[in-house]
Amino acid sequence: MAKKLIPLAVPDVGEEELEEIRKVLATGFLTEGVTTQEFEKKVAEYVGVKHAIAMTSCTTALHTVLECLNIKGQEVIVPDYTYPATAEAVILAGGKPVLVDVDSESMNMTTETLEQAYDSSMTVFIPVSWAGVPLESKLYKKSKELGLKCLEDAACSLGAKIGSEFVGKIADYSCFSFHPRKVITTGEGGMITTDDDSMAEKFHSYKHFGAKGTTFETIGTNYKLSNILSALGIVQMRKIEKIIQVRIEKAKIYNELLSKINGIRPAYVGSDTRQTFQTYACYVEKDDYRDKIRKSLADENIQSQIGTYALHLEPAYRNYKRIGKLKNSELLFRNALSLPLHRSLELEDQNRICKIISQTLSE
Ligand SMILES: Cc1ncc(COP(=O)(O)O)c(C=O)c1O
Repeated sequence: MAKKLIPLAVPDVGEEELEEIRKVLATGFLTEGVTTQEFEKKVAEYVGVKHAIAMTSCTTALHTVLECLNIKGQEVIVPDYTYPATAEAVILAGGKPVLVDVDSESMNMTTETLEQAYDSSMTVFIPVSWAGVPLESKLYKKSKELGLKCLEDAACSLGAKIGSEFVGKIADYSCFSFHPRKVITTGEGGMITTDDDSMAEKFHSYKHFGAKGTTFETIGTNYKLSNILSALGIVQMRKIEKIIQVRIEKAKIYNELLSKINGIRPAYVGSDTRQTFQTYACYVEKDDYRDKIRKSLADENIQSQIGTYALHLEPAYRNYKRIGKLKNSELLFRNALSLPLHRSLELEDQNRICKIISQTLSE
């Protein structure tokens, strides 16, 4: 008999989402409209910001912010350990990514790396709160001191908090993703949040072909999120707290189970923060065992993933400027391991996964 499949991720969608989509279809108005505006309002209220602007993805959200900040020809600091989208947005907007290393435990860039890479010709940088781990709060403070705008790639972090403040409220501009592996999903989708009135207006215009009222003063594009996808987003926003709670509970179980196994470090847990555990990323300390573990899990019909990418090792990013040796990023690329985490993951599944990991590490 085939072994029970344990998927890496399962989006929390069902009848409620279908019902809202049906309502949109019945109106006959399918492109961006009142449903998108309602979704934007829900996210703005949740995060506690003045403006939330829905986009087609986190990538197009990042691109929009960078185009509107006009970074052409400029260097923009980006962590090396991230999904390529972060650096792609810089290149699309005519900038040059500068790749910096990350902390080996939080897997995020730090204030020290910002200071090392900073140059007075820069105007913006893009830290990533990867896997739903909030950035260290002194990073925001340092960027203010340097006069550098902070554009947070918060693709994984809707619902994360530092103290009582939501990620999305702290940086000058934050971009979220609604890809199916993210905290909430619209299939594909994204959102920019900000308190900056004049930039919010520019973002809005940019995604509407550069329109301002009935005239076109600037060049824009079409990054509008449809009413259909926004309907999904509205229902997902009703569920977000529950979704995060479940993720935190299951992450805690993994942390307990994995802490008893030699050769693996459980996922990072920061202090005075709430993480989303959008990805449950642990770290395999025993050399060359990450992929052996992935193979053992796959043999048992259990999906897993690497953490994310070390951009400087990818052919498209080989020639961009780097600060230092990017050692932590490289080690994380080789050894970080993402485990299944979703609502239907049961305690016995987590026990089984950790048992396979333990067995493989003792081979
Ligand atoms: C850190 C980070 N930024 C950006 C993205 C891209 O998001 P989207 O798929 O919504 O464009 C991802 C996607 O995995 C990501 O992990």
